[in-house]
Amino acid sequence: MPDVYAMINEVDEATLDQVAQAMEISAADPQHLDMLRDYLSDLGLDKGAEAPTGGEARARVLEIGCGTGAISRVLAGLPGVREVVGADPSAALLDRARSLSSTRSNLSFLQADGRDLPLPEADFDVVVLHRVLSHVPGPQTLLAQAHRVLRPGGRLAVFDGDYSTITLATGPTDPLQTCVDAFIPAYITDPWLVRRLPALLDGAGFTHGRLRSHGFAQIEDPGYMLTIADRGAEALVAAGRIGQALADALKAEARRRVSDHTFFGHIAYASLTARRATG
Ligand SMILES: C[S@@+](CC[C@H](N)C(=O)[O-])C[C@H]1O[C@@H](n2cnc3c(N)ncnc32)[C@H](O)[C@@H]1O
Repeated sequence: MPDVYAMINEVDEATLDQVAQAMEISAADPQHLDMLRDYLSDLGLDKGAEAPTGGEARARVLEIGCGTGAISRVLAGLPGVREVVGADPSAALLDRARSLSSTRSNLSFLQADGRDLPLPEADFDVVVLHRVLSHVPGPQTLLAQAHRVLRPGGRLAVFDGDYSTITLATGPTDPLQTCVDAFIPAYITDPWLVRRLPALLDGAGFTHGRLRSHGFAQIEDPGYMLTIADRGAEALVAAGRIGQALADALKAEARRRVSDHTFFGHIAYASLTARRATG
């Protein structure tokens, strides 16, 4: 089954609701916010700045693949950010993004595929790709567009999951891991992308820094990891591998572990920041 996010304009309303909820749940998690702030601090966006000439030094930021806008909203509130544009191919997700950000005057949204941006060259100081590139067939094309819309010297920040390592297992042959095994191909185009990220950025003409690893473990209150168990169980039903009764039992097992304090879920994320050359 192809990645739901890569065919976002073809999915049914129920699937769209589910992915929209998963985005908001995961972006609201304090661990997730810490990872976001951590790599954004590499760009200095957590600090306000006055240009030496007295002009505007705060950044104009583009988030490609903004979905419901959860990350764009955080970006728009940072002291070093003047304005944020969130771009996504899904008009339905952008409707949600607009209503969730209606009080922010420095945030706007644009319906666009990141591989074909209707934006002028050198228009942004910063481009952010948060959990997007691993969903996009042809990530090189999207990176070429990010490079084009960045001003010379502008910064790119990429954050994605090393999704081949997602785990819900607490031991060998753990049945909950079958949910992960089904989730990965149904929701991620390239679960190994993070491992090729430095080479991909080099190929797109960026100069990159050090790849940073961010561990995300959910044990108590595992809102996001439960969405993976649920979506994986449903993917097994959709693929005809199991019946609904077993899917419901897998979901119930995940919740039993939460109430018994034996639940464990982990995703290894990674971030990499890079610069467009000034010459
Ligand atoms: C996992 S969601 C991440 C959303 C948001 N960045 C966040 O972290 O909350 C992936 C997003 O990538 C978007 N997407 C998929 N293909 C895309 C493409 N070719 N160009 C831009 N965005 C794309 C999807 O519509 C979806 O909103």
